[in-house]
Amino acid sequence: MAPRFAPKEPITLDPPKNTLFTLEELSKYDGVSNPLIYVAVNGTVFDVSRQAKVYGPGGSYNVFAGKDGSRGLAKSSLKLEEAVADITGLGEGELTVLNDWFSYFSQRYNVVGKVVTTSKI
Ligand code: HEM
Repeated sequence: MAPRFAPKEPITLDPPKNTLFTLEELSKYDGVSNPLIYVAVNGTVFDVSRQAKVYGPGGSYNVFAGKDGSRGLAKSSLKLEEAVADITGLGEGELTVLNDWFSYFSQRYNVVGKVVTTSKI
């Protein structure tokens, strides 16, 4: 379920950083080999390390760790195959859910950078 509300206590965030990550680089921040855990939403990379219990190994939302799992967020799905950046074919409602998640993460987590998409076409 998508908790679409502002944090109870205001969270002071750092100014956003602009590091560029390929999806391969991002995959290192899954809480296994690295204590830092990053989750990307719509190509923006957030530092969710503070919620290691949730995003780290064994955590409820570990499927999103070290990834851009926009599709899964949009579809309220925790399936591994849906935890991907590709949002083609989604409906308006799903895109709204994705935007809500973007707001959720933006209000809680520091931005560390962006995902660069390398075209393989
Ligand atoms: C029975 C189903 C579910 C229940 C009871 C549930 C419950 C919760 C609760 C209680 C929170 C914490 C809210 C807060 O402290 O702000 C949460 C957060 C979250 N949920 Fe769910 N959830 C469910 C299903 C899902 C599904 C299917 C997804 C897939 C998109 C999902 C994604 C998330 C995410 C990404 C967070 C944010 C965690 C964070 O960064 O703090 N949840 N959920």
